[in-house]
Amino acid sequence: IVDIEDEIDYELLNHEQIMGKITEVAARASEDYRGRTPLLVCVLKGAATTMVAFSQAMTIPVETDYMSLSSYGSGTVSSGTVTVRQDLSADVRGRDVLIVEDIIDSGVTLKWLVGELERRGAASVEIFALLEKPARHQVQLDVKYKGFVIPDEFVVGFGLDYDERYRNLDSIAVLKPEVYEGEQA
Ligand code: PRP
Ligand code: MN
Ligand code: MG
Repeated sequence: IVDIEDEIDYELLNHEQIMGKITEVAARASEDYRGRTPLLVCVLKGAATTMVAFSQAMTIPVETDYMSLSSYGSGTVSSGTVTVRQDLSADVRGRDVLIVEDIIDSGVTLKWLVGELERRGAASVEIFALLEKPARHQVQLDVKYKGFVIPDEFVVGFGLDYDERYRNLDSIAVLKPEVYEGEQA
């Protein structure tokens, strides 16, 4: 029997740290959007966990929608192209959209999504990203709501996966190197 804990090298952020930060950012966003009803757009699958915590911590009315985007496939390096696995159900025209994302790595996924939402006629588009890895940024993005800046390590948990696993970990952690052994470069 393999427990997730056995595959973790070290924990980067514990559950309380993550929830504290999300609550703090949601309080600020609730102030900023007061009087409006923002449409929270969750970038599946990674942001699913963050979306639940963030939307529950918002103190103003919000609407929620989901879009499934993929740039990583099964490896630890971005493919550089964004695939839409499942589109939104809402019409974003005229809406104040707040994207909820788990991590900005190269920035390619969000750069594409911001452009796409603007093309569809959103009134405004802002970003909440729980994690940001500045060492990997390839494109310029304006991120209004930021969680944690993290070092250039491949992290899992709180929604983030390695080859679809570890999303259910309630903290954010770095895996032991042997977990990646045999990965195709
Ligand atoms: C991951 C992560 C972000 C994106 C960040 O998603 O959840 O959405 O990559 O990388 P980028 O800034 O280099 O574009 P992934 O493609 O692994 O899909 P998933 O959310 O379903 O795991
Ligand atoms: Mn993702
Ligand atoms: Mg992924």
